[in-house]
This record gives sequence, C-alpha cells and structure tokens, in this order.
Amino acid sequence: MDNLLEIKNLKVEYKSLNEKENSILAVNDVSFAIKNGEIYALAGESGCGKSTIAKAITKLVKPKSGEILFMGENIYRQNSEKRKIYPKEVQMIFQNPYSSLNPKMKIGDILIEPLDINTKYSRSQKINIIKNVLDEVGLAKNCTELYPHEFSGGQRQRIAIARALVLNPKLIIADEPVSALDASIQAQIINLLKELKFQKNLTILFISHDLNVIRYLADRVGIMYFGKLIEENLTENIFKYPKEFYTKTLLDSAPNLVSF
Ligand SMILES: Nc1ncnc2c1ncn2[C@@H]1O[C@H](COP(=O)(O)OP(=O)(O)OP(=O)(O)O)[C@@H](O)[C@H]1O
Ligand SMILES: [Mg+2]
Repeated sequence: MDNLLEIKNLKVEYKSLNEKENSILAVNDVSFAIKNGEIYALAGESGCGKSTIAKAITKLVKPKSGEILFMGENIYRQNSEKRKIYPKEVQMIFQNPYSSLNPKMKIGDILIEPLDINTKYSRSQKINIIKNVLDEVGLAKNCTELYPHEFSGGQRQRIAIARALVLNPKLIIADEPVSALDASIQAQIINLLKELKFQKNLTILFISHDLNVIRYLADRVGIMYFGKLIEENLTENIFKYPKEFYTKTLLDSAPNLVSF
C-alpha cells in the first residue's frame, strides 16, 4: 500500500461563532493523499482550514461528508480492534511546547503515560523505550526526573516529539510545530524531524504557514485557500512553477527564502 492516508472530498462544518451565519464550511471538498515515508505539508493563511483537517484525521471533529482512509480503510468503518489502535498510530505535535506539556509532571512520567494507557509492556520495557526515544530526539537519557520548566523551548519541543514517538506511530501530524520557537531553534527541530523521517521512515503531515520551513522539509506541498486545497505539487515544483495566482502571492509574501 503506497498511500498511508487518503482524504477524499472531505467537508467539515462548524457552527458559526458569528451570530449572522449558521455554519461555516472550514474544509470544503478537500482531497489529497500522503504516501508512506513522505512529509506532506499543508500551507495557507490563517483560518484556511489546516488545523481542521488535522482534527478530522484525529477524530476530534466529525466530517460533514467525505472519507478519510488510513491504510486503505475508512477510519469510521474500522473493526473494533483497529479502531482501538488507531489513536496510537496517529500522533500529534502541537505548536506550543509550553502549553502542551503538563508542568506538574516529570519528563519520565510524561513519556511513560501513553505507554501505561495503551500498552501492556513491563515497567523495564517501557523505560527502555523511553531511553531510546530520548536518545533519538537528542535529549539525555537521565533527564526523566526533571520538569518541563527546566528545559528550553527547543528542548520542550523535543520532549513533545519524544512523547509522540513512544507508541511508534505510523503517522505524525505536526501542527505549526516550530512557530513558537526562535529561528535558530526552529532549524534544530526541523533538522530533527528530517532525521527522524529518514531513520524511522516516518510519515508526517506537516502544517505550517512558513514556506521557508516547508521548502526545506517537505516532499510535497498542498496549498489551501478558504477551506479548499487549490494546488498541490512536489515541493520543488510548487516553488519553481506555482500554478495558482494565490500560490504566487503566498510565495511573494514569504520573507526571503533562506535555507536551514
Ligand atoms: N470550534 C470551532 N467553531 C467554529 N469555528 C471554528 C472552530 N474551529 C475553527 N473554526 C473556524 O474554521 C476555520 C478554519 O480554522 P482552522 O483552525 O482549521 O484554520 P487554520 O488554517 O489552522 O488557521 P491558523 O493558521 O490560524 O491555525 C476558521 O474560519 C475558524 O475560525
Ligand atoms: Mg491552525
């Protein structure tokens, strides 16, 4: 199976926050697929529906219509066994490592929690997994006794990535994972994601409004505009040969495209 995830004609509607309208179509007939081992980026301005797609994939919102296929199966029609493991196979990394980690929990407890909830491994197996993952994300194996506030922003995002990795997921959804970080730290985290992709053949849906980061990291890019996916292509081609007027404006408005 070449595609890990396939989104077909997805529509997601919210009750409007504005009293004049009843509902808003945040995602409007979006289709795309992510191949195994690929980093697929979704780009587009604020409010265009990027995070809503992530929420639909992780079942935080229910689609109005359309289909989401994971390993070829509709995520709402999986048998009970697969439905149970689906949340382990799709893990999220969020924008803000300051708020996404519980400040009252030690790193070891933050990392062991998903394993306690979802697996029957022995304590020593769990500790082994945690040590390996900490090593993979470039943190010391003995940092488990520390609390999140004892780490820098970049290190906290490494912890969030480690937490996403402990269950050995098939798909990682990273929603603006570096937007809250300084430029130099951004580069480190992006490099880490790139390394992990190659080392672990990770498949990543990478959501960002930052075209610099996307150009460096993604294999393919989908451009969203007002709930629609208006264009998609290999990263290089999106930057060299943008087809849609909106894509060109988005590229023009990006600050100098530097490399990491
Ligand atoms: N829970 C909600 N209830 C009502 N409307 C919502 C809700 N969540 C999002 N929206 C609206 O849906 C649209 C898409 O929002 P979404 O968060 O998916 O955009 P986004 O592309 O991720 O934006 P950003 O780059 O700012 O994160 C926006 O118009 C937003 O206001
Ligand atoms: Mg968003």
